[in-house]
Amino acid sequence: MTGATPSRGVAVLEERRRRFIPALPTLWPGLLSPLTAERPPPFPLGAPRVTCFYFARNAVFHTVRLLGLAGREVLVPAYHHGVEIAALVAAGAVPRFVRVDARMRLDLGDLAAKVGPRTGAIYVIHYAGFPQPMDEVRAVASRAGLPVVEDCALALLSADGTRALGSMGEIGIFCFYKTLPVPNGGALVVNARGVASAAPTPAGAPLGSTLAHAAGALVANAAYRLGEAGVALRLAARGASRAVRRATGLRPISTGTSRFDLGAVHLGMSRLTEVIARRVDAAAVVAARRRNYFLLLGRLRERVPPIFAELPAGVSPLFYPLLCEDKARVKARLAARGIETVDFWRRGHPLCPTGAFPEVAALRRRVLELPVHQDLSPEDMAFVARCAWEALT
Ligand SMILES: Cc1ncc(COP(=O)(O)O)c(C=O)c1O
Repeated sequence: MTGATPSRGVAVLEERRRRFIPALPTLWPGLLSPLTAERPPPFPLGAPRVTCFYFARNAVFHTVRLLGLAGREVLVPAYHHGVEIAALVAAGAVPRFVRVDARMRLDLGDLAAKVGPRTGAIYVIHYAGFPQPMDEVRAVASRAGLPVVEDCALALLSADGTRALGSMGEIGIFCFYKTLPVPNGGALVVNARGVASAAPTPAGAPLGSTLAHAAGALVANAAYRLGEAGVALRLAARGASRAVRRATGLRPISTGTSRFDLGAVHLGMSRLTEVIARRVDAAAVVAARRRNYFLLLGRLRERVPPIFAELPAGVSPLFYPLLCEDKARVKARLAARGIETVDFWRRGHPLCPTGAFPEVAALRRRVLELPVHQDLSPEDMAFVARCAWEALT
């Protein structure tokens, strides 16, 4: 009796604390403190030819101009978010879709077969931080004299062994706010000497949007760390922000949407993003993500065959892609336990003929994104794994 009471209390507290498992990393206030030591910024920040934007889609748009792709075909994977394709199209490029298999691997045979006289570039996406075979892609590209664009929107801080993703194509494209607790930010890095000009200097990020996103990430941190009280604070903050929007008609420029807005194409990254990024311990972020991925892999692989059964050296996983037969149901069941997940890429760009790529259609129908980010502890991962297992049954 005496021994049972405290441990049950601890268990209850743990459950309460875990009421909210956020899908994205949250903003720990210490990262804003001037007392926190600055570090060398993680690649591509600080790279010699990097231009930072409000989000990655702007970098995609400007890539078309840099590489002279307007009016030309760009070979793009059939498995994509949709907004990167919209950005290419808005800038005048013509997407031609290439098969991706059930394990999210670009089909190199289909890629080579689709190179033609109108092809201007090859566009590669590294899914969930896992590298595509860049040596083979580069071999196809160099035979045809084409530049390669590496989309690392889902692969910041990730590497293939010791080679940073985004450093092997002529151009690398990044998104910061999916991996780090920053309010906005994407980047275009020019790796090739042959690409002459840099992207145009972007305008500043709108302050209101930056502050709104940072405040959201701070209250998400409170909700994660403080349990019920933090969750209540987050709900109240959300209500207040909705009221302010209604009263003023002002809306922050949303990140993470699938609509491409030509009016936002010159917006840059906020100074706050750089301040936070310089205080993040990138090596610790990668180590935590790898540990968390391994923990889910170990616990879930028996239940559902994993898409990525290995975690190769250098990879920084963005999330754990869980295959579910009924993802809406699994998502709802996890949400009921306080676990946020992302319905990953249910729809692609309307120009992509869905019937032509059955494996991609299956991925769109089945992949649910489970969080493995750096905030989460091994205990959190055990909880996520247990809830996922139960939600699947
Ligand atoms: C592969 C890929 N590229 C580009 C983007 C665009 O990123 P952003 O929202 O930063 O514009 C996304 C967005 O999710 C993406 O998944």
